[in-house]
Amino acid sequence: MTNAIKYSPQADKIIVKTVADADNLTLSVQDFGVGLLRKDQARVFERYYRVGGTNQNTYPGLGLGLYIASEIIKRHKGRVWVTSKAAEGSTFYFSLPMPKHQHRQPKTTLIKEKLK
Ligand SMILES: Nc1ncnc2c1ncn2[C@@H]1O[C@H](COP(=O)(O)OP(=O)(O)O)[C@@H](O)[C@H]1O
Ligand SMILES: [Mg+2]
Repeated sequence: MTNAIKYSPQADKIIVKTVADADNLTLSVQDFGVGLLRKDQARVFERYYRVGGTNQNTYPGLGLGLYIASEIIKRHKGRVWVTSKAAEGSTFYFSLPMPKHQHRQPKTTLIKEKLK
């Protein structure tokens, strides 16, 4: 979310969404900022990778945030990815596997226990 704000100085909103199904929870952060070229989309999760160009001085940083975030997500067996169009904005996603037992439980379990 801090990247979404930082890399969209002309925009006045970001959109954060979560979607869950039985297998995964996915969170997305969409911005309407500078966006990313395809070649950079493939590399932004690399350690120390920062997009070069004339705008670079406007956005100081280390190129570590997305690397650290993606390593944490991977260690929880999740995935991270980005979709983007230069000058239109970016959407960053991560998904994490849902704990299976919570979803496989029949909804009537609690009621049955109370009747005993
Ligand atoms: N929302 C975004 N929109 C456009 N470019 C982004 C966005 N988030 C990250 N980037 C690009 O990816 C690079 C790596 O991001 P990050 O790891 O958070 O490091 P930092 O923000 O410190 O540079 C950034 O330098 C920037 O070029
Ligand atoms: Mg950052």
